[in-house]
Amino acid sequence: MSNLLTRLGMKKPIARIQAEAAGSPLKRTLGPLNLISLGVGAIIGAGIFVITGEVASGYAGPAVIISFVLAGFACALAGLCYAELASTMPVSGSAYTYAYGSMGEIAAWVMGWLLVLEYGVSAASVAVGWSGYMVSILNDFGVSQHLFPPIEYAGREGHMWATPLIQYVTDENGQGSFPFTGTFNLMAAIGIASVTALLVMGIKESANVNNAIVVIKVLVLLAFIAVGIAYINPANWQPFIPPAGQTWDQFGYGGVLRGAAIIFYAYLGFEAVSTAAAESKNPSRDVPVGILGALIVCTLIYMVVAAVMTGIVPYPELASPAPIAVAIDRMALTWADFSAPWVEGGSLNAVSLMIKLGAVLGLGSVMLVLVYGQTRIFYTMARDGLLPKVFANVHPKLQTPWTGTIVLGMLITIAASFLPIRILGDLVSMGTALAFAIVCFSVIYLRITHPELERPFRVPGGVYTAGAGIIACLGLAAFNFVPMIQHAMNDNPLPLMLLGGYAVTGAAIYAAYGFWHSRLAKENAEDPE
Ligand code: ALA
Repeated sequence: MSNLLTRLGMKKPIARIQAEAAGSPLKRTLGPLNLISLGVGAIIGAGIFVITGEVASGYAGPAVIISFVLAGFACALAGLCYAELASTMPVSGSAYTYAYGSMGEIAAWVMGWLLVLEYGVSAASVAVGWSGYMVSILNDFGVSQHLFPPIEYAGREGHMWATPLIQYVTDENGQGSFPFTGTFNLMAAIGIASVTALLVMGIKESANVNNAIVVIKVLVLLAFIAVGIAYINPANWQPFIPPAGQTWDQFGYGGVLRGAAIIFYAYLGFEAVSTAAAESKNPSRDVPVGILGALIVCTLIYMVVAAVMTGIVPYPELASPAPIAVAIDRMALTWADFSAPWVEGGSLNAVSLMIKLGAVLGLGSVMLVLVYGQTRIFYTMARDGLLPKVFANVHPKLQTPWTGTIVLGMLITIAASFLPIRILGDLVSMGTALAFAIVCFSVIYLRITHPELERPFRVPGGVYTAGAGIIACLGLAAFNFVPMIQHAMNDNPLPLMLLGGYAVTGAAIYAAYGFWHSRLAKENAEDPE
């Protein structure tokens, strides 16, 4: 038994991780502004373009603005912990590598498996948002009517072949259920398949393309703010926190907290900055500046966008997969109309079209970054022997882990085609909040077990800040987990079953494969010192 525990706790020596990083062929070219841009590029996506409307309409009302602040604060605590770990182990890996170095193999496995939620499942959820905006654009050009005709699903409007099989609907008491009344989200499947093909061919976003897309995304949101501000009716902000409804998470303070747990999703991606530590000019200063800078920029943009959105449209009417488009339609910007004889009404709105195009481009780039991240995490885990070699099989000409990318692309396509963003988003937020809590814990653990390590960046407030990060992240995870239990108690066990199935699959893969093939275990067996 003690042998088993030693084996599960086996750590990759930090000196080795540092040596691997020192020998890294990557060039140190990134400064603080590049890192902030990298962070903003990875962060802004389906959270603000899709999920804000749902949080405002069903949970927090105009106080979604407070939900954004709470979630942003939790991310800042976790972000500081990421920065300390990245400065101690400046590898281009991820939280998986930090866990392997600090707490050992089983913690690394758990972390790697949680990261599937943060990257793979998250890519599926962004694809669902991308699909919504794509269909809307195709609608504007008269294409959807034939390919994706509007249709009613479970009392809501949807599009044939652009709606996941499983739907999320709430009754008049706020109780949610997941009827199998949709079809197959073909558009989301096309999105993931295209991104997978690009990655197999070795096309990833260059820094210049990333910068251009970041500028477009931010400009689209700033344009929405600039145009929308004149259309705000402050009466729509009253009551700011709507009175509590039938369930604990429907409005009231409970709704604001549940809203924070859902909207936390909108901030994910900031840790991409820490993975660039090996490529930054001065990681000990630039990585924390990059992480906090990106979080501050996004928090401010999110708060103002949410304020404008809820100021223009009364919050109950924001329950839409494209809430920003709803707000723009409400502005009725006739000055920006142009003639489009192919649509009903004969005209289209330039501002609305521009924002939808920006969303499609922005969400597309987030999908690419997320699927890329997922393939590289599995590549690292497969090289460590914890996952089958199919994920580390590099194509001789294309130089990409092509078989792993294809397998992952297929799995993510299945999730994006069949599941609604509600379930996907909750899984992502919960898994990532747990992963962040482990990251905060790793800081405390390493400070106690390895006080001598060189830490170019130290979290201000040390273990207290990291401890606050653990509490905040576990709180966010709990506010996502409790509704899953409640759904299960109300005869809607699907989200809990998916979560349980996912955890059991992870444990089974480790027990059947990773435990027996771990490269570190083999090396230690050959050379115990
Ligand atoms: N933060 C990312 C988004 O909002 C996951 O799409």
